[in-house]
Amino acid sequence: MLVLGIESSCDETGVALYDTREGLLAHELHTQMAMHAEYGGVVPELASRDHIRRLVPLTEACLKAAGKDYTDIDAVAFTQGPGLGGALLAGSGYANALAFALGKPVIPVHHLEGHLLSPLLANEKPQFPFVALLVSGGHTQFMAVRGIGDYTLLGESVDDAAGEAFDKTAKLLDLPYPGGAKLSELAKLGNADAFTFPRPMLHSHDLQMSFSGLKTSVLTTVQKVREENGGSLPEQTRNDICRAFQDAVVDVLVAKSKQALLDTGFRTLVVAGGVGANWKLREELGKLSVRPRKDKGGKPMPSEKVAVFFPPLVYCTDNGAMIAFAGAMRLQNCREAGAFTVKPRWPLAEIVQ
Ligand code: KG4
Ligand code: ZN
Repeated sequence: MLVLGIESSCDETGVALYDTREGLLAHELHTQMAMHAEYGGVVPELASRDHIRRLVPLTEACLKAAGKDYTDIDAVAFTQGPGLGGALLAGSGYANALAFALGKPVIPVHHLEGHLLSPLLANEKPQFPFVALLVSGGHTQFMAVRGIGDYTLLGESVDDAAGEAFDKTAKLLDLPYPGGAKLSELAKLGNADAFTFPRPMLHSHDLQMSFSGLKTSVLTTVQKVREENGGSLPEQTRNDICRAFQDAVVDVLVAKSKQALLDTGFRTLVVAGGVGANWKLREELGKLSVRPRKDKGGKPMPSEKVAVFFPPLVYCTDNGAMIAFAGAMRLQNCREAGAFTVKPRWPLAEIVQ
């Protein structure tokens, strides 16, 4: 089965072709980053219009790269939500029209399910069940994943998502949009001992997280540094703040990941979403092990290794490959329910299997 995947939930137009026997045949991506940079953030109306302009040429580029024709497509998968309403409608309208013209089924896909399954696009794939840490610009969640479509929410951020905290902090450090990745690059040049920021809800004994207070701590620190430096923020100090901010977020994500693994008893962790591209998070989670609580006799238990999977870097941020893949998995494993509607707000735990 050849599935065309369409992603248009935010500021990236992604199109891909996934074959259930041969794997990923082609994927094309257009990022609107440069267009939105001028405004310091995503402008929804501009995003929708640009998706409309890009969808046909990207599909044709994919077909050409894969050596396929429109008539070879067996189903069209598209991101139904969550995301920006207009941007989602551009993808949904295109996917539904194309599927209708070809007489083929349309498969609505949850954007986060796309992220969640993206590590399965790598050569080395995780086995079910696993804990998924979804860290994107809009979500920071732990899910217990027992199979395709079988997802249970374990805990999430009660306020800002980790990616959102990265972006907002970058903005108050005067870094150009989109700031998350830039902040993490500058953190490489920072001294780890110069500043320490709070680790919110680190000891809350559950899987809830909070990142908005952290951003406020950075703001207070930046204001103080500026006062001491005649209004400016010295370059090295900015790098040090980036480092301390990143370390705080990563510490929380690592500690909560351990807790999620202990709570579920699973020993596989899958990290997905844009923040999964972060070098420090990859480094720290790469050496993760967990020590189960003491046994009934009160004896300490040996620590256990955890298998950690990240999607290949190109599939970490938004892309069409993860939607084509999730669509193909839905086609094979789940009840089909084609729909033209979009769902700008859509909790992952509410999807039907
Ligand atoms: O998954 P994604 O591409 O889009 C959403 O669905 O939100 O994630 C985008 C988020 C942004 O907040 C961006 O700042 C963050 O991922 N991000 C990073 C890095 N690269 C992207 N955050 C930290 N370190 C990075 N290297
Ligand atoms: Zn995303």
